Amino acid sequence: MGLSGPLQERSGLSRLRYDLDLYANLRPAKPFPALFDETPFKPEVVRDVDLVILRELCGGVYFGLPKGIQVLDDGTRRGVDTQVYSEAEIQRIVRYGFESARSRRGRLCSVEKSNVMESGVLWREVATRIHADFPDVDLVHQLADNTAMQLVRDPAQFDVIVADNLFADLLSDQAGMVCGSLGMLPSASFGDPLPDGHRPAIYEPVHGAAPDIAGRDLANPIGAILSVAMMPTEVRWPNRGRGRR
Ligand SMILES: NC(=O)c1ccc[n+]([C@@H]2O[C@H](COP(=O)([O-])OP(=O)(O)OC[C@H]3O[C@@H](n4cnc5c(N)ncnc54)[C@H](O)[C@@H]3O)[C@@H](O)[C@H]2O)c1
Repeated sequence: MGLSGPLQERSGLSRLRYDLDLYANLRPAKPFPALFDETPFKPEVVRDVDLVILRELCGGVYFGLPKGIQVLDDGTRRGVDTQVYSEAEIQRIVRYGFESARSRRGRLCSVEKSNVMESGVLWREVATRIHADFPDVDLVHQLADNTAMQLVRDPAQFDVIVADNLFADLLSDQAGMVCGSLGMLPSASFGDPLPDGHRPAIYEPVHGAAPDIAGRDLANPIGAILSVAMMPTEVRWPNRGRGRR
């Protein structure tokens, strides 16, 4: 079928992430006490929230092929996107999730829609299998719609949430509101270490271009500042120590 669409040619940030294979996007969400009253939640709901959403960033429905807008024989059109995940893609992000959980409070919530999606069935199988390598981490499987509900009902229950590109994209905007503003959330995206030992990474706030507030002096810079804070010291201060005695 003839498909065409703007995303067939990846561009900008999306291409940068894809070409550098930055598959692991860490999105921590921890509200500041000063902003408890700014959230749409009661303070007691958000007070103990300290979670990380780990988003798979290089696969899934945003990149799966075929993709595009197809003209049908009767002249009408239909849009096509493909949700596809290989076992290897799931393995590497879920393993990253277990490692992240191990370095925190030891709880991993693996999110998919295995009730209605084949990629979700595979995701759940792979997560269950990898769990054998991390017996010290508690694993919970959760359907994505339930996670959306739980994130509103009791966001403090979560430690690390690992999800595919689409589900984690949605859930992290929701987590932004738990912190009072989408402008509060930082993120760091990592690929696997290169042969020279360096790990490619991009540090960026979770939010987008915020066109609705452009030029109004309302943009919250905290997400961008916290993204810099996620950089290792040698990246933040490459010249530190040079020339000093
Ligand atoms: N990481 C990214 O590059 C990224 C993420 C999301 C959206 N986008 C792009 O940005 C554009 C706008 O998308 P959108 O409006 O759905 O999402 P958005 O994140 O730009 O904005 C969503 C809402 O959050 C508010 N918001 C965002 N950042 C804020 C900040 N720093 N301070 C205060 N409020 C803030 C906006 O005013 C808006 O109401 C689209 O082109 C989209 O593709 C890019």
